[in-house]
Amino acid sequence: MRSTPRGRATPAAVLVLTLAAIVATAARAASVLDFDVWMRSIDKHSVDVQKNLDARRPEAAVADAQELSRLYGLMTQYFVDDGQAADAVEFSRSGKALADAIPPAISAGDFEAASQAALELSHACNDCHDVHKPFQ
Ligand code: HEC
Repeated sequence: MRSTPRGRATPAAVLVLTLAAIVATAARAASVLDFDVWMRSIDKHSVDVQKNLDARRPEAAVADAQELSRLYGLMTQYFVDDGQAADAVEFSRSGKALADAIPPAISAGDFEAASQAALELSHACNDCHDVHKPFQ
């Protein structure tokens, strides 16, 4: 019997889906490793930004805040892609907003507001950790 185009497509479709699943698993595994790297960097910069603000080192504090913003952006995307934890997406977004608030506050000479944002960011770590750390 002549095989229909549909009949021929099925094994190929199965192969494509299998490969896609393997690639997705590999991508996800790599991201978990990346995630721990981001976390350790978030840990460092969240402490450094406060030290640099206390010592009135504006350039260093801005650099810390920009790195925190970048890392929280990556974390936001991670949890968006993951699709399992809407609260973690929100925690990541609000942390990024706090990091983003620091450079303009410094530019305005308002170190108090910058420190307040940095402190709030640090106090929020456990909101996420309590629920999501370690990964299930
Ligand atoms: C939106 C969620 C979220 C936020 C916000 C968050 N973390 Fe995490 N963090 C996690 C998760 C999830 C893990 C566990 C990752 C795992 O199991 O591999 C983790 C792990 C860690 C680790 C251990 C990393 C390692 O090497 O295993 C450190 C250190 C850390 N976080 C520091 C912080 C600090 C400091 C902050 C705040 C300034 C913060 N995190 C904010 C989700 C978050």
